[in-house]
Amino acid sequence: MAKTFYISTPIYYPNAEPHLGHVYTTICADAVARYHRLKGEDTWFLTGTDEHGVKMVKTAQSQGTTAAELVEKNVPIFVELWQQMKISNDDFIRTTSDRHKAGVTAIVEKMLAQDDIYLGSYEGWYDEGQEEFVTETAAKDQQYKSAVSGRPLVRYGEPTYFFRLRKYADRVRQHIEQNPHFIQPEARRNEVLSKLQAGVEDLSISRASLKWGIQLPNDPEHVIYVWIDALSNYITALGYGQGEGNDALYRKYWPGVHLIGREILWFHTVYWPAMLMSIGQPLPLQVYAHGWWTAEGRKMSKSMGNFIDLDRLRAVINDFSLDALRYYLLSAAPFGNDLNWTEVDFNKSFNDLANVVGNCLNRVLKMVGKYCDGVLPPAGAAEEIDSNLQRQGGQLLGQVHSAYETIHLQQAVMLPIELARLTNGYIDATSPFKLAKDPAQHQRLQTVLNVSCQAIYRVLICLLPVLPEKAAEGLAQLGVQINGRTMDELFAQPLAAGHKLGSGSPLFPRVDPKKPA
Ligand code: MSP
Repeated sequence: MAKTFYISTPIYYPNAEPHLGHVYTTICADAVARYHRLKGEDTWFLTGTDEHGVKMVKTAQSQGTTAAELVEKNVPIFVELWQQMKISNDDFIRTTSDRHKAGVTAIVEKMLAQDDIYLGSYEGWYDEGQEEFVTETAAKDQQYKSAVSGRPLVRYGEPTYFFRLRKYADRVRQHIEQNPHFIQPEARRNEVLSKLQAGVEDLSISRASLKWGIQLPNDPEHVIYVWIDALSNYITALGYGQGEGNDALYRKYWPGVHLIGREILWFHTVYWPAMLMSIGQPLPLQVYAHGWWTAEGRKMSKSMGNFIDLDRLRAVINDFSLDALRYYLLSAAPFGNDLNWTEVDFNKSFNDLANVVGNCLNRVLKMVGKYCDGVLPPAGAAEEIDSNLQRQGGQLLGQVHSAYETIHLQQAVMLPIELARLTNGYIDATSPFKLAKDPAQHQRLQTVLNVSCQAIYRVLICLLPVLPEKAAEGLAQLGVQINGRTMDELFAQPLAAGHKLGSGSPLFPRVDPKKPA
């Protein structure tokens, strides 16, 4: 039976339209999911929306509508966007769905049975954007504003149920210490460990003042608040807690990996493991935290005019292609670092695709077309320059595997581009167009064409997870259909002499160069 692999994005708040940040996480997760499918693994990819909480109610009020209406307006925008962006998610979980509610209720019932939930009262500073209480010291340090959104903290006080987070804090810490790969990139681990060292409080998990949420099974006056509701999605979507016979996906795919933005790392590496310990279920395998986007060097903001919203993203896709957007996002910074959208960088990255990959493919197809009627010639004895490129090409897939496995996504997408760059250099150095003029060099010409063609073939195979459309189109131009084969299978079958190449057309057609990205 094939190995299984399960990856999720955060479930996004549908209080507004998605933007660059949501698109980035979803595209990263999509590339990883596609990579695992192309490895032949039985892969499950989940995304969805986090629809409860005060944030949703307040946004709805400010727009003169209800939370229920607001989510019905915005959730379809997420669903349709992922379809338009050809995101390969297998499921989309909504926290207002019956299946999720049933799962969360079962989870909370288990926690109650463990005596991990008790009634207390709480008064403190609350960050409504992040949906979390902030300690007095932190609130003061932050001048009573949210560290993330900058909006004022709000004073809350009411009876609330608590989850016994303190009971599990040591076990969570041990887990993080003993599993250096649990949090990726590893540099982020220390942040979580030192915050744990400073001590945790039990977690307020209910609100009596709110109606928009899932009722606590032991006290319907309270709704469950909100991380317990949200984090549970990763298993309720697989059928956990929804009766025997409904949890086949859970048994098959859990535990999985979570891909998230760095601002919600604490919740995913402390609250969520503690919750799973309480209900006696396995912890996630890994949590991958990526950095945050700014644009043109500043925090994205509508008033500053540098907000990369849906219209902007759609224009980029329209002018440059979906795969050009994917490549830019994944290559913009080492995974985990903060990222900065700039027009200049976008154009540079598009040029990599057009001038390096597209051009390399085009040159190979043209030359094989012109000198060999589009039929791949055999390779003769290799010279040093040939075997160098063959060796580097041969190593590519192994390097790409290890980059994806260790979530070095920038490397994973740039390694193939580097091989295409080397191939262009090889073509320049071996000058096939000169060789073609000398009949005595016919065999040498054939070798050079064969070696270049095998190299661009390997480049395109390794680009499949990140450029699913363009890489497949490039392979089709080489006369190769993927036909459900894995990257390893494709890689293991170099193009045979006598193979008929397809016809070429620019893979990344140029748009008006004056047009901004
Ligand atoms: N609903 C919670 C998550 C619950 S998961 C159990 C939430 N939602 S959110 O709509 O605010 O989405 C946060 C996620 O969106 C981040 O973790 C990140 O994946 C993405 N981003 C939103 N803005 C971003 C940037 N400016 N840059 C990069 N990604 C960011 O938090």
